[in-house]
Amino acid sequence: MNDRFLVTGGARLHGEVSVVGAKNSVLKLMAAALLAEGRTTLTNCPEIADVPLMADVLRGLGAVVTLDGETVTIDTPAEPKFHADFDAVKQFRASVCVLGPLIARCRRAVVALPGGDAIGSRPLDMHQAGLRALGAHSTIEHGCVVAEAESLTGAAIALEFPSVGATENILMAAVLANGTTTIDNSAREPEIIDLCVMLKQMGARISGEGTSTLTVTGVAKLSPTTHVVVGDRIVAATWGIAAAMTRGDIRVTGVDPAHLQLVLNKLVDAGAEVERFSDGFRVRQTDRPRAVNFSTLPFPGFPTDLQPMAIGLAAVAEGMSVITENVFEARFRFVEEMVRLGSDARTDGHHAVIRGIEQLSSAPVWCSDIRAGAGLVLAGLVADGITEVHDVFHIDRGYPEFIGKLRSLGAEIERVNG
Ligand code: UD1
Repeated sequence: MNDRFLVTGGARLHGEVSVVGAKNSVLKLMAAALLAEGRTTLTNCPEIADVPLMADVLRGLGAVVTLDGETVTIDTPAEPKFHADFDAVKQFRASVCVLGPLIARCRRAVVALPGGDAIGSRPLDMHQAGLRALGAHSTIEHGCVVAEAESLTGAAIALEFPSVGATENILMAAVLANGTTTIDNSAREPEIIDLCVMLKQMGARISGEGTSTLTVTGVAKLSPTTHVVVGDRIVAATWGIAAAMTRGDIRVTGVDPAHLQLVLNKLVDAGAEVERFSDGFRVRQTDRPRAVNFSTLPFPGFPTDLQPMAIGLAAVAEGMSVITENVFEARFRFVEEMVRLGSDARTDGHHAVIRGIEQLSSAPVWCSDIRAGAGLVLAGLVADGITEVHDVFHIDRGYPEFIGKLRSLGAEIERVNG
């Protein structure tokens, strides 16, 4: 639990690296398997800590789950249990995505609230409002979201904000509702499209995926399926930004570069040469990166999950960058760790102003979440000396084989227990 990384700065990363399926997709696809009795198989799954945790949540609901490398098999019973208790869900927020499938299948769902998060408060009001619009009664009782419905009926739902999690829960409830549901201002992330692709293979009737209006016509029953998880654009972009920060040359495969248009364009603005291929991209940076401004927004905007890496890039860029966080209010806590590494950075509300310096200065730093952890490792790669990155269990939740891949690209990094 208390493992740390020792990162020696100075290497220019170079070589080829492949990414597998996205964490933010696989966990939802595993939950979607609850929608159909029988065996669902997911391939290209990342071997990260959150996948066995989600397997435990599903086991607690009566499913039989097998993890075999990058293949996850879920056997869903005819009558799943409807109560995901605190022990199962406490370790990760994404477990809340069983809410939609459970209300759809069991007409009743009790899902313990996993509590606060280091990146922000993450309320569930839009999830609940959506389920209520479909005819469910939803309350928070004794630390659990409780939802019940005699039947679910399609409705016109407009989200206040294109929330990824709310879109997914409402979608997964609507696929088995009576009649047609529209979700306006829905999230458009590639992981939402991936979920729609799988649900359609299962027999769901959905249109509009990838746009801001999803239309779902409920069906009586879904069938299990086999599905390949979409490549992880956040992990892929982490490698691209690492190439730019370390003035390296990395080819990334296993991802659709169309999912990273804006990110790759920003790297070009920073002075990188970027080539796009059908299954990936290459980022090459020879000179010191130039300062670039970033503003996080729902897809197709710049992903909030890459904000720590953008701050890392800005920290060593030539000039001043302004980074605006519009999705998770507490994500700038990461900046305090960057200041420890010598970054000239200030925050004011939603904005961070960073004056780039040539090289950061190694120091002990602490990960507060998955992406902050990856950002600190990248920062350590451009610091003098050895940076000790603590609490790396956060990184294990989202980056498969992180150390091995970094080493294969020429980084000097080791894991120390305790
Ligand atoms: C998902 C991703 C996370 C990513 C985020 C935004 C997973 C497991 N996690 O998180 O990595 O950073 O999308 O791309 O897929 N909100 C409300 N009420 C709600 C729901 C959300 O106010 O009912 C707010 C949140 O507090 C946040 C914003 O909406 O400020 C976006 O959250 P959301 O898109 O729902 O993110 P998650 O699904 O939690």
